[in-house]
Amino acid sequence: MRKKIIAGNWKMNMTPSQAVALCETLKPLVKDAQADVVFCVPAIDIVPVVAAVEGTDIAVGAENFYIEDKGAFTGEISAPMLVEAGVKYIIIGHSERRDIFGENDILINQKVKKAFASGLTPILCCGESLTLRKNGTYKEWIARQIAWDLTGITADQVKELVIAYEPIWAIGTGETATSEQAQEVCKLIRDIIAEMYDTDTAEKVRIQYGGSMNAANAAELLAMPDIDGGLIGGASLKPDFGVVANAANA
Ligand code: PGA
Repeated sequence: MRKKIIAGNWKMNMTPSQAVALCETLKPLVKDAQADVVFCVPAIDIVPVVAAVEGTDIAVGAENFYIEDKGAFTGEISAPMLVEAGVKYIIIGHSERRDIFGENDILINQKVKKAFASGLTPILCCGESLTLRKNGTYKEWIARQIAWDLTGITADQVKELVIAYEPIWAIGTGETATSEQAQEVCKLIRDIIAEMYDTDTAEKVRIQYGGSMNAANAAELLAMPDIDGGLIGGASLKPDFGVVANAANA
């Protein structure tokens, strides 16, 4: 039985003081969640958020990093910096990083490798645009993303991995994939993992849905057999996140 994982992706929101206040709001609301609960926060909020959630079961994730440990990479943050600060999870390959910041699958694959080498658990994002959804090629697209991004990653690593299926047309739009649409692709991803590795690995990898998941639709999405959690943007910044986290309670 896979443990559900509910991760907030705060994106570029919350100053350090706002971040601490949000932690204080959310802590009592997620304390009975049976799922793993993760707050993925902006780099500058990591240190205060790690302090704010100390003594709880909440884990802290980062939203980005670079593949080198240190050096002349102005503006970047490294895996050793994140690990020392107390970060456990790292979002990799989010569509905003792919589309706005030009990250390609070669870099994303390097980031997945670096995360594992550093003891960080990747939350690897994949997902199709509205064009690919409409022209019916979204399955091939997802299969290609997964194959590229996991090149050279071992079965034992994949068992620890979290994959987030985030259809781009559902991110921040208020338009959620139906639970059937989300289940279809999450199952497809599990089948791809079974083909690339084996069924044991496919049964262990946790696959989240992301894209306008909220207090109203979380329970239905999380009831689907291949949806093991959620990556939540907008609703992670408000008390709704507590409802989503508890919606995973069986
Ligand atoms: P959303 O974002 O919940 O605001 O749609 C999800 C994400 O981009 O991770």
